[in-house]
Amino acid sequence: MKSETVTITDNSTGKSIECPVLRGTYGPPVIDTAGLYKGLGMFTLDPGFVTTASCRSAITYLDGEKGILLHRGYPIEQLAEQSSFLEVSYLLIHGELPTKEQFEEYETQIKKYNMVHEHLMRFFNGYRYDAHPMSVMVGVTGAMASFYHEEVDVKNPEDRLKIAYRLIAKMPNIASKTYKHGIGQPFIYPDNSLGYVENLMNMMFAIPSEPYELHPKAVSALDKLLILHADHEQNASTSTVRLSGSSEANPLAAISAGIATLWGKAHGGANEAVLHMLEEIGDPKNVSKFVARAKDKNDDYRLMGFGHRVYKNYDPRATIISKACHEVLDEMDPHSELRPLMEIAMELEEIALKDDYFIERKLYPNVDFYSGIILRALGIPTSMFTVFFAMARSAGWIANWLELMEDPDFRIGRPRQLYIGSEKRDYVPIDKRG
Ligand code: CMC
Repeated sequence: MKSETVTITDNSTGKSIECPVLRGTYGPPVIDTAGLYKGLGMFTLDPGFVTTASCRSAITYLDGEKGILLHRGYPIEQLAEQSSFLEVSYLLIHGELPTKEQFEEYETQIKKYNMVHEHLMRFFNGYRYDAHPMSVMVGVTGAMASFYHEEVDVKNPEDRLKIAYRLIAKMPNIASKTYKHGIGQPFIYPDNSLGYVENLMNMMFAIPSEPYELHPKAVSALDKLLILHADHEQNASTSTVRLSGSSEANPLAAISAGIATLWGKAHGGANEAVLHMLEEIGDPKNVSKFVARAKDKNDDYRLMGFGHRVYKNYDPRATIISKACHEVLDEMDPHSELRPLMEIAMELEEIALKDDYFIERKLYPNVDFYSGIILRALGIPTSMFTVFFAMARSAGWIANWLELMEDPDFRIGRPRQLYIGSEKRDYVPIDKRG
């Protein structure tokens, strides 16, 4: 078969090079520009990576125009309906759904690793009670790298898998301790008679002095929420984990860098920002005022939970989550005080979806628009929302890190730049500067 190429010509010199065109399973073809510097002495510039593929990946595919999201080929709708977060984490890491025996073995391993070193607990005490939980997550996950430094050889596949399992196992433990530290309650140890999500809820909400009863609906809603956040292709935090990992840094340090990136409100921090926004709007009758602000060119106000770099039709995760949100409120808490917030969210969605500004820019509700309401209904405080996102996304981060480390093209990530600073000039001693 004739290989496909694209010819790139430098009009100033008339020199041309042929760049190979690569085709994946799905998605637009990709121009391999690696030979551009050698051939034409040029770099490419693409701020925000709008059209730049940073790697080859077999983990997740998303089609933003059609609203499709596949993990290892399986549609997110089917995974959310039929799978569990733990199974999805196995799928992301190993590439295939586990057999019954493989899943049991995986669950046993995860349970084996779910404790954290007692000394790690001391790190929590270094934080003020009101520290933002994401800052604690960044610090404690980074600190955990020191507990597994000598024994993780990033070039050894067995060590890599072991640290991946350790991460999946320990994240609920760390996340719940972040919460317990903030409210001044004693840390709760993992209980291996419980499933993964049950254990997480138990560590979050149980107290030593009385029994804690798990609500099965809450467990299944949280499980679904974790599945929906488990991975999302080469987003900012995943790309950060890959870039950190490319220097052969400790994988837990790379994950800590991913957590830091997720924190921002343009990324994972949006779920927290949505709740603050709904509370600020306060009443469905105020919605149009806030929509007008979001449209005003002179106001940098944005509707949180709206818009996505890739989804230009709808976010399939938002469709699943909005249905789950209604179910949680109807079944678990029909008279919930969250009803007014839900009404504001629905009014906002309705007004925005009919508005030309949002239609023209293809701005739809994203996964974070309703996730905060579910988390709040489950009793999880707003400042912990992004922590739950981080816990779920750890599965995608570590799957991407494993893929990076196994990539035959592995090398340190080192983007280039277009320098626009001063021309070369001479140093002027301080007493001679005007
Ligand atoms: N409200 C009002 N206007 C918006 C919004 C919004 N939420 N999002 C984008 N726009 C406008 C923007 O002002 C611009 O208008 P114009 O063309 O007139 O200048 C246009 O839409 C394109 O926006 P952009 O900033 O170039 O788009 P982007 O792809 O760089 O940003 C985004 C994507 C998600 C950061 C952005 O839509 C946003 O800030 N949304 C709110 C925060 C949010 O919900 N983030 C969660 C993303 S989903 C979870 C995750 O993956 O982490």
